[in-house]
Amino acid sequence: MNFKLSEEHIMIRDAAREFAQTELLPGVIERDNKQEFPDELVNKMGELGFMGVMVDPKYGGSGMDTFSYVLIMEELSKIDASASVMVSVNNSLVCYGLEAYGTENQKEKYLTRLASGECIGAFCLSEPEAGSDATSQKTTAIDKGDYYLLNGTKNWITNGGRAEIYIVIAQTDKDKGSHGINAFIVEKDMKGFHVGPKEDKLGIRGSDTHTLQFNDVKVPKENRIGVNGSGFRFAMKTLSGGRIGIAAQALGIAQGAYELALKYSKERKAFGTEIGNHQAIAFKLADMHTEIAAARYLVMKAAWDKDQGNNYDLSSAMAKLYASRVAMEHTVEAVQIHGGNGFVKEYHVERMMRDAKITQIYEGTSEIQKIVISRSILRD
Ligand code: CAA
Repeated sequence: MNFKLSEEHIMIRDAAREFAQTELLPGVIERDNKQEFPDELVNKMGELGFMGVMVDPKYGGSGMDTFSYVLIMEELSKIDASASVMVSVNNSLVCYGLEAYGTENQKEKYLTRLASGECIGAFCLSEPEAGSDATSQKTTAIDKGDYYLLNGTKNWITNGGRAEIYIVIAQTDKDKGSHGINAFIVEKDMKGFHVGPKEDKLGIRGSDTHTLQFNDVKVPKENRIGVNGSGFRFAMKTLSGGRIGIAAQALGIAQGAYELALKYSKERKAFGTEIGNHQAIAFKLADMHTEIAAARYLVMKAAWDKDQGNNYDLSSAMAKLYASRVAMEHTVEAVQIHGGNGFVKEYHVERMMRDAKITQIYEGTSEIQKIVISRSILRD
């Protein structure tokens, strides 16, 4: 692995940093309070090429590597994890899935719009009774000849209200288990598709999360992704890449909180000196610095594996497991270092602590990552 960033990597990282500082930072507390995120900011991320980072330019993407993607994710997440989850879902779960497994027609019709930022997508796997146990899909898609009839409910869908294009995983043949599952492209205007109320969340409150309802939605046959019965493997492969994005998000949240804690430690005085001069604070900073660096190397390794064409199921699960733990533990420490100020919104770290929690839950809980990791090491 080469740890030296190329000129292109530095350019894209700096562009993301600049955007995060000038455009995301000013309204981040208000967006978190109001649970909103203006379309203009999403459009700007599209204009900067953040919505289809790894997609071939012939389909409207930026044609960059996974390394660039994690650099962008880290920079955005340092300031606003609500923005970065929209980017992550659109890139890793929607654009990647379509580019890797979609037909030429699907790519032209849907991927070009998603990758260029013209519209945003959502990935619908989770259900009221199928979260971690993803093969237990209750949503059904019955083959009716030239269309599938889609019925069911999806839960906790990121971009659920904002998206125009949805990738929906559904069961087509219960008897075949994970081989009786397919992935479909659903458009927001299809009859029978309903967006439920927005969830009131602990963190990433700027991003919208909804329950979705599918009542006799007629999905054209040509909107099935991949060969019949490949939907579960499609979801698993797509999520492996998604976990790199969420690991980078966790890394960014941790890094953002660390930078604020470090700055505060050099400014705030107690017992006649800056608090960073007290060993209790200095040792916390030392742990943060070390463990965030370790998380970064795991994230880079997973991105590198993907860029090299290596299998990245294991490295992405390791990166997500570790980076999300680091994000959770060190945002708590960042609040502690800030003392009373850490408990008020103005200082940002309490939001980061709330935002960090979801990185241990979505795109596979930490317990699921341990299943993936342990199965992999016991098998090899
Ligand atoms: N690549 C290819 N195939 C895979 C695979 C992978 N990474 N993982 C599993 N498969 C295949 C298996 O080989 C198996 O195929 P065969 O039957 O041919 O042998 C089939 O899929 C079933 O696999 P398992 O027997 O391993 O299935 P399982 O029921 O034990 O589940 C699991 C495995 C890892 C626990 C999986 O269910 C899982 O990852 N669950 C978590 C789901 C998840 O991440 N949800 C997040 C929702 S999306 C989200 O959060 C997005 C958002 O909005 C931010």
